[in-house]
Amino acid sequence: MLFDLFVNSSTHDVREHFVRIFPRGQVLGEEDVKAFREKYHQLYVSEEQRELYLSSLSTNTNLSDTKKTEVIKDSAIKYLSTLFDSEKKFTTELLHDTISGCRESIESMVHVIKGKDISDVQKMIGDLSFHDFYTYDHSINVAMYSMALFQAAKSNASRGEIVTAGLGGLLHDLGKLKISTQIINNPDKLSNEDFDIIKKHPEYGKELFKQNKIAMTGIDFSTIERIIYEHHENFNGSGYPNKVLGENIHMMARITAIADFFDAITTKRSYHEVLSTEDALAIMSNSVGKKIDPELFTMFTTKVKNLVLNGKNHFCIKDDFDPCQPHRVIPVEKVPVSKQEHKLFEKENKYGSVKSDVDLIKKKAA
Ligand SMILES: [Fe+2]
Ligand SMILES: [Fe+2]
Repeated sequence: MLFDLFVNSSTHDVREHFVRIFPRGQVLGEEDVKAFREKYHQLYVSEEQRELYLSSLSTNTNLSDTKKTEVIKDSAIKYLSTLFDSEKKFTTELLHDTISGCRESIESMVHVIKGKDISDVQKMIGDLSFHDFYTYDHSINVAMYSMALFQAAKSNASRGEIVTAGLGGLLHDLGKLKISTQIINNPDKLSNEDFDIIKKHPEYGKELFKQNKIAMTGIDFSTIERIIYEHHENFNGSGYPNKVLGENIHMMARITAIADFFDAITTKRSYHEVLSTEDALAIMSNSVGKKIDPELFTMFTTKVKNLVLNGKNHFCIKDDFDPCQPHRVIPVEKVPVSKQEHKLFEKENKYGSVKSDVDLIKKKAA
């Protein structure tokens, strides 16, 4: 065992008293496990040894990836929920604790995601139970897709960069902690006033991050800050807060935007039905060159196993669709007939038919 095992021997509901029942360094046999199962309802690992626990879990070959992800997700949610707790005051220390805790989760996730395709990640996400606080599940899913897509986009990506992509995904909506939960958990169409408030979250997130950052080895704060600030910028310059164009948007923010979009329309929630992977990609392809980066999107689609290109290619989602919000109904609509002639989703040509628009955007961005 790489860590000590404890039980809570307190008989009081509110007080906890932990007693070590198995020391680190010894071999835990099947008999011991059987005895623990019969005797105890729950075993504990100390906070200080959480990292050891998570890393031994992620390299354990006897556990399914879904089970591993479930534990890693629980650990990440614990940190995110402390961060989003309105009773708690946001402090530099709180942000520091969240980042180091989330980093442990992300580091363990790197193992699980390594070599996985977007479809595998999607399957794992589908098998996980979900939280009633949309931002938690969403942030974790975006972290997972961002890591998988970043690996696909940069074959020689370092572990540190993949961790940055994951942390950026986990924290991209950080600014929402300054917005009331009634607004951020509202799955109905928001009033213009509420949407204007929502639109401030990249700015809020950037400020919180900037004011509270302290040196932590191996954490690329400036890239995470750009992910937080730029994940709602659209490739064609129609996004917010600064209408940044094309490749002037940080690559990791463009990756986060694709992960964000895909998760919002494919992850099952209690209140809405989701699109199939094929329909989701077909719909997203109509946003290529507008909301999302074409090259990165092509890489994303090549990482979807057995993709059948027969999705709803006559449907699209408006550029102002907000993937960071829960939606009771996914606002898909028919592509206007005049535009269907130039439809972006073509079997022969996959997703590449927007080249001329993209060249123009690149030119403008330069
Ligand atoms: Fe967002
Ligand atoms: Fe989001």
